[in-house]
Amino acid sequence: MRLDRFLGNLPDFNRRNSRLLLASGRVRVDGQVVRDGCSEIREFSRIEVDGRILQPGRAALYFMLHKPAGVVSATRHERHRTVLDLLDEPDRQGLHLAGRLDLGTTGLLLLTNDGHWSRRITHPRYKLAKVYYVETAEPIGEEYIETFARGLYFAFEDLVTQPAHLELLGSHSARLTLFEGRYHQVKRMFGYFRNPVLRLHRESMGPLRLESELPPGHYRPLTSEEIQLI
Ligand code: URA
Repeated sequence: MRLDRFLGNLPDFNRRNSRLLLASGRVRVDGQVVRDGCSEIREFSRIEVDGRILQPGRAALYFMLHKPAGVVSATRHERHRTVLDLLDEPDRQGLHLAGRLDLGTTGLLLLTNDGHWSRRITHPRYKLAKVYYVETAEPIGEEYIETFARGLYFAFEDLVTQPAHLELLGSHSARLTLFEGRYHQVKRMFGYFRNPVLRLHRESMGPLRLESELPPGHYRPLTSEEIQLI
């Protein structure tokens, strides 16, 4: 089938806006931008608009996984097992991560093949709360609360972090809520006080919480209600 005909037949598009989508380079076929509507697509071609997969036959997939320590948040890696290796799903190669965790970090990880949905989780514009349980090498002082709420300057990105909420739980443990997801953000924030993070666990992302019934290394599909919440 021709690509423009395929797009024009979908409920979200018509002939005219399909042509515009193609011309603006927002359509990919098997990962390559295609601007020519006359291009032929095959049954198993992967069609995306702005990262959203369009095949009617290829369902959108959404999973929550309890990431164990020692597994890499990536779809492939030369040395370590990846989180994709934990999924026993035929279409797992099409999945990507909605927010990564460091090798030693445990907790909630979301995987999907729906780029629109994952952007609402990861893009700082949406300010979705990500809650972490943290244990540190040194005592955590009251002054951390104010400093994290004010924001910290990250020189590499040349930005000030969004106000974050810190709840002290014990002398060396706390719950930190972030509204963005910068590279190694939690460790860098505690690093400001030269306080190494010894344990880091993501408890929730927005309305989605990791339940105790899901042990490390296990996963489950999200329900349609959970998908709609994001
Ligand atoms: N911040 C970190 O420093 N590491 C993570 O894995 C997640 C947030």
